[in-house]
Amino acid sequence: MNHKFIIGALATVALTLSIFSCEQKTQDTTSPTPSSISESTRKADSVLALMTLQEKVGQLNQYNGFWDVTGPTPAGGDEKKKYEDIKNGRVGSMLNVTSVERVRAAQKVAVENSRLKIPMVFGFDVIHGYQTMMPIPLAESCSWNLALMEQSAAVAADEASAAGINWTFAPMVDVGRDARWGRVMEGAGEDPYLGARAAEARIKGFQGELESEKTVAACAKHFAGYAFAESGREYNTTEIGLNTLHNIVLPPFKAAAKTGCATFMNGFHEISGTPVTASRFLQRDILKGEWGYEGMIVSDWGSINELRKHGIAKDSAHAAEIALNAGSDMDMEGHCYVNYLEQLVESGKVDEKLIDDAARRILKLKFELGLFEDPYKYCSEEREKETLGSEKHLDIATQAARESIVLLKNESNTLPLKKEQSIAVIGPLAADKDSPLGSWRGKVIPNSAVSVVEGIDNITGKTSSYSQGCKLVEGEHSFIYEVKINETDKTGIKEAVSLAKTKDVVVMVLGEDCFQSGEGRSRTEIGLPGLQLELLKAVQKVNPNIVLVLMNGRPLTLSWEAENIPAIVEAWHLGSGSGTAIAEVLFGAYNPSGKLTMSFPRNVGQCPVYYNIKNTGRPSAVGHDAGLVFHSHFIDSEKEALFPFGFGLSYSTFEYGDISLSAKTIKSDGTITISTTVTNTSEVAGEEVAQLYIRDLVSTKTRPIKELKGFEKIKLEAGESQSISFDLTPSELGYYVDGKFVVEPGDFEVFVGTNSVDLKKSTFSVN
Ligand code: NOJ
Repeated sequence: MNHKFIIGALATVALTLSIFSCEQKTQDTTSPTPSSISESTRKADSVLALMTLQEKVGQLNQYNGFWDVTGPTPAGGDEKKKYEDIKNGRVGSMLNVTSVERVRAAQKVAVENSRLKIPMVFGFDVIHGYQTMMPIPLAESCSWNLALMEQSAAVAADEASAAGINWTFAPMVDVGRDARWGRVMEGAGEDPYLGARAAEARIKGFQGELESEKTVAACAKHFAGYAFAESGREYNTTEIGLNTLHNIVLPPFKAAAKTGCATFMNGFHEISGTPVTASRFLQRDILKGEWGYEGMIVSDWGSINELRKHGIAKDSAHAAEIALNAGSDMDMEGHCYVNYLEQLVESGKVDEKLIDDAARRILKLKFELGLFEDPYKYCSEEREKETLGSEKHLDIATQAARESIVLLKNESNTLPLKKEQSIAVIGPLAADKDSPLGSWRGKVIPNSAVSVVEGIDNITGKTSSYSQGCKLVEGEHSFIYEVKINETDKTGIKEAVSLAKTKDVVVMVLGEDCFQSGEGRSRTEIGLPGLQLELLKAVQKVNPNIVLVLMNGRPLTLSWEAENIPAIVEAWHLGSGSGTAIAEVLFGAYNPSGKLTMSFPRNVGQCPVYYNIKNTGRPSAVGHDAGLVFHSHFIDSEKEALFPFGFGLSYSTFEYGDISLSAKTIKSDGTITISTTVTNTSEVAGEEVAQLYIRDLVSTKTRPIKELKGFEKIKLEAGESQSISFDLTPSELGYYVDGKFVVEPGDFEVFVGTNSVDLKKSTFSVN
């Protein structure tokens, strides 16, 4: 049977409604309205009607390709069996098959041998770029520039789709509060509101018009709560109550579903005793039920089989039964569905209708991607050649890098540097062309980033005086093996100190190796790793005029640095255009505009530290309690972050006017407009991210002391003033009480300003 035949048969086959699309929906107006049965669902149903149970189960099976690995090697995953399974229509999707040549080869096996010739969908972790690397997502979120995030995702999609891929496992929309967890680099930081906006932008960028051959299906992951791993330890248990789940964890996922994100991924972790892969509550009740989501849910790598290790499944068959019944549609490299689902249907443990529902969702995606029309739609060698790593893409990556940089400190206008100053460039990351590419680097060409030394040389037109100071890593670093940090070889420090002595200013480039963050990279100490602090202190002794440029994948503890170093530039792992963007900021060719989206702790003991905390019953000791210990604090550290959420300096200075309100009181279904004026009081043009926060003062459930509910990035010429205004509607003023969205009458505080701490305040009421 050929594809034309399948498409021709579509019209003649009866439609079977999803058993879940009929579930009762809640009346929350912020929920996505379920669309009426789409054309692609109709087509999927038509194909479904032609399929045997074995073929339907095949659609639910995803194998890793034969080339790359992004997880532990599965038991029993031999390549010959995989090949035979593809031939027999028992594989719906593959991951980690990259390049047109390989995708074409694998697709050919499926469509030329299987009975129904159903094409496979090819997934890959295109997290922040495919070949041209964008900044890591945490960095990019610091740009607060949604259009840029969308554009950057569109570039990644353009390149990935040109290399045969049609599905990315991104964006990761987990709200991350704990800097010890290595995967905070993949997300948009600690705030659910910003996280939701970033999720929407990235999904729009990846997916564009899904039927285009230049875009890919997106995947919101990891549904839900993975970032709440206890002690930030990777894959660890989470405990999340309903209040935090609905108000903090779920909003970016809900926004993703509403934006039409084609797929979701569950995860490795458990919440309060239920592994999310086995969570009916999350997958069937909330996502597919309450939110009316019609896309498909893929498990994480082997997470179905891991239900055995969690101790809720006695064997792989039992794991398949639990996961499928809970709503996990596709089994990523777990081999459980393909091996056991048929017998589970035969024994009555799984209802075939649930398999139909899962297969329908997967087939629907294939129709949306246009794979039934042309299984080789994403397979053009010509496009692959001209698209990957193009100049245009590098320009966008470099712009994203510029806007992701956050200036943390700039005492006595140490920055911008002047070309006539004599400069030493020191540090293990200064000439590194690989770490800036970040973790989760798609199919980047190793060592292809512009280094800081190169960036500086390009601007000054001279060769930098450079010294490595010390090595950061022993030997080679790698995506799958543990990084070995140099703790012993101090031989370069002397040379660096001698160089520093002779110069006006020292640019020190320190931080984390790119493979110290990302999956499987939790840390218990999050200061500068290895010998770097020793190097910094040694240099500072002979020349305190230091600009510290940081490259890292998570917030670091920088108490000594913040106290002793006059200028600090947070440059993350910025991707291909890294050194160009950093040098432009150092010399003032680009005026930094980034603002932190994760708080920087003073020490590890504070973790997790985040701005939208609850007040507690004992927030401080004042009045006659002053000096007593009975308040929520630490006796050996301040409780506030070192650098708070929303913080970032500029070479310009901005002043905020008083807040004006469109009303003092509004109805619970009303809208209030908050306005103010921002003035650039400096002599240089600059960009400012104006932020709006609210506080619900008395509510049924406790609310955070501040919640971001709006932001705008504006450009102001020297001396220019601009009016800005934000609307607060029920969506921003309400919250979830026991899973139900409500706007409660009462008093609110509203704040507008430059970061989550320095704010102007006003009040209004909802009645
Ligand atoms: C495991 C990771 O948790 C997930 O985010 C990723 O998409 C898959 N592996 C596939 O590589």
